Amino acid sequence: MSITIGFDVYGTLIDTAGVTQALKEFAGDRAVEFSTLWREKQLEYSFRRALMQNYVHFGFCTRYALDYCCAALGVDISEQDRAELLAGYRVLPPFDDAAASLPVLQDQGYRLFAFSNGKPEDVASLLEHSGISSYFEDVVSTDEIKSFKPNPAVYAHFLRRTGATGKEAWLISGNPFDVIGAASAGMRAAWVRRSPQAIFDPWEIEPTLTIGSLSELADGIRGM
Ligand code: 2OP
Repeated sequence: MSITIGFDVYGTLIDTAGVTQALKEFAGDRAVEFSTLWREKQLEYSFRRALMQNYVHFGFCTRYALDYCCAALGVDISEQDRAELLAGYRVLPPFDDAAASLPVLQDQGYRLFAFSNGKPEDVASLLEHSGISSYFEDVVSTDEIKSFKPNPAVYAHFLRRTGATGKEAWLISGNPFDVIGAASAGMRAAWVRRSPQAIFDPWEIEPTLTIGSLSELADGIRGM
């Protein structure tokens, strides 16, 4: 049985905190706070859009969240600079463990997919820029069904697109809400807990596997 692995992109393969350096110019020593709030609002907007069934693509959630942060933190950023910050979102850096682990998993015969809220072209550009696109069979985007994680329909869409079943398909994510969403929809789900400070939501749903880095994934899956 070949195992299919869907990698979440933002926050798992790609580091959204990569915008912090660029934000220093505008937010100074509040750049980390700005970047954290930006990511939280971006996700909140995606959750709300999915629930409202009033879809706009993920780039709009990112844009509106940026506008929110400027207003909430009283940071003045011109229209042109906002456009540049958003352009920076398409060239965010990968986490170090991604480039090292993906070839190992590919050599071991796993089917690898990128699975993201991001539009297919945005995800493709990120993976290309990070030099990791060749490891993936394809990009599966929730944009294809005009919704967002953790709507169970997007995990069902992933299974349909990849021809996998829940038992042989893994979702790998650094985002606890994504891990819970996939497990709740019948997939196996690994949480990448890169920081010991990271907290998993204390719900009744647990990750199938918790790893400290993507380099532990191959052994972790084999041990299950
Ligand atoms: C992604 O789908 C959840 O942002 C995350 O890539």
